[in-house]
Amino acid sequence: MKNTVVTFQQAKERGEKLTMLTAYDYSTAKLEDEAGVNSILVGDSLGNVVLGYEDTISVTMEDMIHHGAAVARGAKNALVIIDMPFMSYQTSVYDAVVNAGRLMKEGRADAVKLEGGVEVCLQIRAIVDAGIPVCAHVGLTPQSINAFGGFKVQGKSEAAAKKVLEDARSVEEAGAFAVVLEGIPKKLGDLISRELRIPTIGIGAGNGCDGQVLVYQDLLGMFSDFTPKFVKRYAELGEIMKDAFRSYIEEVGSGAFPSEEHEYKIDDDIIEKLY
Ligand code: KIV
Repeated sequence: MKNTVVTFQQAKERGEKLTMLTAYDYSTAKLEDEAGVNSILVGDSLGNVVLGYEDTISVTMEDMIHHGAAVARGAKNALVIIDMPFMSYQTSVYDAVVNAGRLMKEGRADAVKLEGGVEVCLQIRAIVDAGIPVCAHVGLTPQSINAFGGFKVQGKSEAAAKKVLEDARSVEEAGAFAVVLEGIPKKLGDLISRELRIPTIGIGAGNGCDGQVLVYQDLLGMFSDFTPKFVKRYAELGEIMKDAFRSYIEEVGSGAFPSEEHEYKIDDDIIEKLY
């Protein structure tokens, strides 16, 4: 069954946990979709795990459309959410609506995600009014790492916790259908999840959230540049991949690959005529 913003809301009301994973290409999206994940996020973490940047700041609209459209082709039932990259919505309400529209028309997203709380509520309202579902993202918002002074857990002091709570309340009020809570204390994640009517999707926000999201390379052990505390590795695919690459290199070197089973045949008489 196709996941939609309506089934997301129903899951919250029934107390059923939602699952979200990132993907950036067709074949990974297809595997995640076939495994039954509720939602696929084409995150701007693309910048880190696919494009090799140190942060998400340089990711462009063209990057998100290119990868988003590939994911959308691979996802049958998962709700596809495409991240709005840095400076595609902060600049004005007009830019926000135009760029969200491009992610829907050219990237074939089912919804868009943008970072920020109170300060982006006008944008959220305008995008929602244009008929585009918005997933918000508060707490540790990676596009603001320069303002935060690094990847730091948010909401630890009373004032900071109040700010995250106010952000979460205001994005719900502005019309977001869900909100990602990133890098905040578990008890704050619990409180926000209890208080909001819309589903909360946690990443480093504890298990009281209505759902969870992880970057798939983190979950599969395929990315080792940095591993946040909230990541659980469900497989060590990075090691399995390196072993397979080494075996390939070895077998090509020794001539063991390709062997007869991988060859195409031709009649000997035809070959003889070529001499
Ligand atoms: O870009 C991303 O992958 C994200 C998730 C970490 C929530 O925003």
